[in-house]
Amino acid sequence: MSVQTRKVAIIGTGHVGSHVAFALATQGEVDELYMSDIDKEKALSQATDVNDAVSYLPHHVEAKACDIEDIGTCDILVISAGPLPDPNKDRLESLGDTVAILKDVLPRVKASGFNGCILSISNPADVVAAYIQRVLNYPKHKIISSGTALDSARLQRLLSETLQVNRRSLTAFAMGEHGGSAMVPWSHVTVGGKPLIDLQTSMPERFPSFDHDAMTEAMKYGGYLVLKGKGSTEFGIASSAVEIIRAIFHNEHKILPVSCLLDGEYGQHNVFASVPAMLGKDGVELIVELNLTADEQERFAASCNRIREYLAKADT
Ligand code: 2OP
Repeated sequence: MSVQTRKVAIIGTGHVGSHVAFALATQGEVDELYMSDIDKEKALSQATDVNDAVSYLPHHVEAKACDIEDIGTCDILVISAGPLPDPNKDRLESLGDTVAILKDVLPRVKASGFNGCILSISNPADVVAAYIQRVLNYPKHKIISSGTALDSARLQRLLSETLQVNRRSLTAFAMGEHGGSAMVPWSHVTVGGKPLIDLQTSMPERFPSFDHDAMTEAMKYGGYLVLKGKGSTEFGIASSAVEIIRAIFHNEHKILPVSCLLDGEYGQHNVFASVPAMLGKDGVELIVELNLTADEQERFAASCNRIREYLAKADT
């Protein structure tokens, strides 16, 4: 019998990294957690706290604090290192601080010999993923940023509340930047497989129209609202990360909105931006190219340009 041990490394065990670790543990999606933080005592405490929970978890998990150099045998690396989020600043403004941290982290990842899939969460998500890919010269299909997986969950919440339809009966997602220029391809929002726009025409009483731009803004502001109230966002991002990791570990061929390196898709080259992508054991298997309306295509291109503009500022 061969038993496979699923190993996940997490670099940066603050609010986000520790919640990713615990969500993986409680959802049974990991066997071994390698936890690393610039604050070694914190990483040790986070690992110990997870281990304390094991008696009451559905399956065994082993968490340990480690140095980055020790992650070589892991299957998936989550990078969640970065400055504390500031609710009054655009995510793009944290680029310099995150890059400063990555300058120490990435050579050590390289030295570890790690060659699995990388899930980059640190903000600004798309620019940071591109920076990591560039510095590590990593195979493009093996590096993903959580990107708009989280914005999409927020959109689904808003839509579900407005339409009074269960989230799982909706297909709705955001594309582009995880940030201020994210856009929603409204022409592809469906309810039970039927375009929302058609339902709003054929059943206006049950599905009244609403302001798409206002909902897109509410989606984008969602993270700031949580940050303002509790100083961090963690449950939403941790659940998004587990969904992505599950798709990889179980070779699910699942299509999720994540940020990946575009190589001609949607007319975009050399930019990380969120698109619907099929995920399996080797990371991104294919990118779904939707027929966007001219307006949607323009908004998506503008979002990619904004990401590109900031990537040019990240000094390698
Ligand atoms: C979020 O959207 C702050 O990027 C983080 O929750």
